[in-house]
This record gives sequence, structure tokens and C-alpha cells, in this order.
Amino acid sequence: MSVNIQTILDQASFSREDLALLLKTGEEERKLLFAKAAEVKEDYVGKKVYYRGLVEYSNLCGKNCLYCGIRAGNKKARRYEVTEEEVLEAARYAWENKFGSVVIQAGERSGKDYVRRIERLLRQIKQMSNGELGITLSLGEQSEETYRRWFEAGAHRYLLRIEVSNPDLYHKYHPRNKAHNYQARLDSLFLLRKLGYQVGTGVMIGLPFQSVEDLADDLMFFKEYDIDMVGMGPYIEHEDTPMYQYRDQLLPKMERFYLSLKMVATLRILMKDINIAATTAMQAIDPMGREKSIKVGANIIMPNLTPSRYREDYLLYEDKPCTDEDAEECKRCLEARIHMAGAEIGYGEWGDSKHFARRKKQ
Ligand code: 5AD
Ligand code: SF4
Ligand code: FES
Repeated sequence: MSVNIQTILDQASFSREDLALLLKTGEEERKLLFAKAAEVKEDYVGKKVYYRGLVEYSNLCGKNCLYCGIRAGNKKARRYEVTEEEVLEAARYAWENKFGSVVIQAGERSGKDYVRRIERLLRQIKQMSNGELGITLSLGEQSEETYRRWFEAGAHRYLLRIEVSNPDLYHKYHPRNKAHNYQARLDSLFLLRKLGYQVGTGVMIGLPFQSVEDLADDLMFFKEYDIDMVGMGPYIEHEDTPMYQYRDQLLPKMERFYLSLKMVATLRILMKDINIAATTAMQAIDPMGREKSIKVGANIIMPNLTPSRYREDYLLYEDKPCTDEDAEECKRCLEARIHMAGAEIGYGEWGDSKHFARRKKQ
């Protein structure tokens, strides 16, 4: 069997069946996969890991994704919005500590005032850092006009996870209404690309009703849509969400973790020059989750910069790490972790997706 896996790993292209086989590897065979992924990473994107200082700007959200702890319907969540001064302070910290970039993430909201507030923040961050800080947004589905305004104000990357690429499954994890529409999400990804953003997407791994073949399809989806960056991690149940009712049907957490690690490694082999994040959800299961992701292909990490007083309210899933820490603690912690993983930190660099640079040249 391991001969088989090695044969697949040595191929130049991969079918859906090949990908599924890689995702199904057991303890021994997956070592071959991880070794290959590490090799591809070193050859194509190098040893450097780039920082994206993460500001969880607000847990207000108008949507009701059935898995998410900050969904509008969760009345137990204490809602917050970080103040303008605090965002600028976090951005300044990122800039002074040579993080290269920040990510502003929040639940999905619209409204003129909100759009304007984000726009103003973007301009302020750019101005404060002499244009040096890169800015990624992760603020959900918005209109073309909004995406354009934010791009013109200085954002140049956008993360919008498709969550699951199979439309039938998508509608199992989201309410069936206009606000949760698979096609609209897909359209958003196209819009972002058209407007010139570096586009990131991603999925959750180990959802109820999801098969390994579905995950292979997710990987094919990233390839087909020529995505620049991917952030994906294990699905982790949250008590105050409708999907908690399926908790007995889930893979054990450690299996979800290894499946996620295999997804990262397989994606690195499939899309050699994209940016792949070592996500926080990996660490929610395994204390060394992010380091392990870096070893098998991830090259982006998001140190948390959210002011401490808000952190425990941005609880998308249970056991989320870093909720008791502050920016300084996360910085020190991550530095040690990255060195342990045998990687280097790309201080002061944007660390843009090499894939994006290549497709722009074409
Ligand atoms: N488990 C794992 N990831 C989750 N997200 C939301 N809820 C969960 C959960 N229960 C992820 C989604 C979303 C991102 C911000 O957080 O993929 O896009
Ligand atoms: Fe809102 Fe995003 Fe959570 Fe969905 S996943 S409820 S859009 S914060
Ligand atoms: Fe936040 Fe380790 S990265 S505590």
C-alpha cells in the first residue's frame, strides 16, 4: 500500500481519487505525505512563515450559520465592537513589531455607517504605517461597491471561506434563506478576484455528514478557482449552536485534527505556491497544532492582537486558544513555536501569495 502512496506523491497531477487516497492515509503512510509536503514547501515557498496580526474587530453578525458560536441567534454571546483607537493601537503594535500585515476579521454586517467605519480604519492604518502594513479583510459577503471602496482604502487581500464546496452540504450547515446562499458566496469570490484582491478561501474539516471524498472535492475546488490563499481547520462543536445536536456523529477530535493536517499537506502538494494558514482551530485540538501545520506545509500564522478584554467573546467554537493572553504573550509564544517547527519569521515583509504574483504576470 505504501508503494501506492509514494507513487501518487510522485505524480505531477492528481485526480479526485488520488487526493482521497492521500487523505485516507493511516499513521505510517501519512508520514510519506508529510515528508513530501515539507519538501514541496521548502522548494516553492521556502522556510519563512509570515505574520498576519489578527484583530477580531467585532462579534456582531447578521447571519446564522448553524455551526458558529457568534451567530445572530445565539443570545448568550456578549456582543462587542473594538473601538477605533484600540484597532489603531493594535495596528501600531503590529507595525512596530514588524508583523508585516494585519487581518481585520468580524461577523458579517452591512450598513452605510459600518462600511464607512471600516473604510476610515483602513485609511488610518495605512497612514499610520506609511503604507507599510499590509491589510487583509475577513468581513464576509459585501456588495461590489463596498469591496471596491475597501480596496481603494488600502485592503489588498480578502478571506472568505466557502466553508464547504458542495452546495448540497452547504445548505445543511446554513439556514435555507437568501442571506445564506451558496451561489452568492461564490459570486463574492469572483468579485474579489475581479477587483484585484488576493483571494483566500477555506473550509471546515470533519463536519457531520462530510466524507473524505467531499474534502477531496474541496481541494479540487481551490485548484479550479485558482485561489491565492487558504485557511482551513477542524470543525469544533459549540454548545450554543444548532449543530451541537450532531456531536455524537463527529469523528473523535484527534482524528479531525489529523485529517486537517493531511488536508494542509495534500493542498501544499496540489497548489505548491499558494499561502496556507496554520489556523487557530488546529491549536484548539492539539496544543502543538499550529507548529505541526507549519511543518507539513502552512506558511502563514495569525498572532492574536485583539485587545484582551474582548477575546473571550469572539468564541466561534469551544476551547479556542489565546483567550486569556495578550498581544505580547502571543507574540513571544508564537516566536518560540515557529522556531521549534524549524521555520523562520518573515519580519517586516508582506509575504504575499507567490501564486498571486505569478497569475498577475500572466
Ligand atoms: N468550528 C470551526 N470553525 C468555525 N468557524 C465558525 N464556526 C466554527 C466552528 N464551530 C470558522 C468558519 C468561519 C471562520 C471565521 O470561523 O470557517 O469562516
Ligand atoms: Fe457570522 Fe461568520 Fe459566524 Fe456565519 S461563520 S455566523 S457569518 S461570524
Ligand atoms: Fe496566543 Fe500562544 S499564540 S498564547
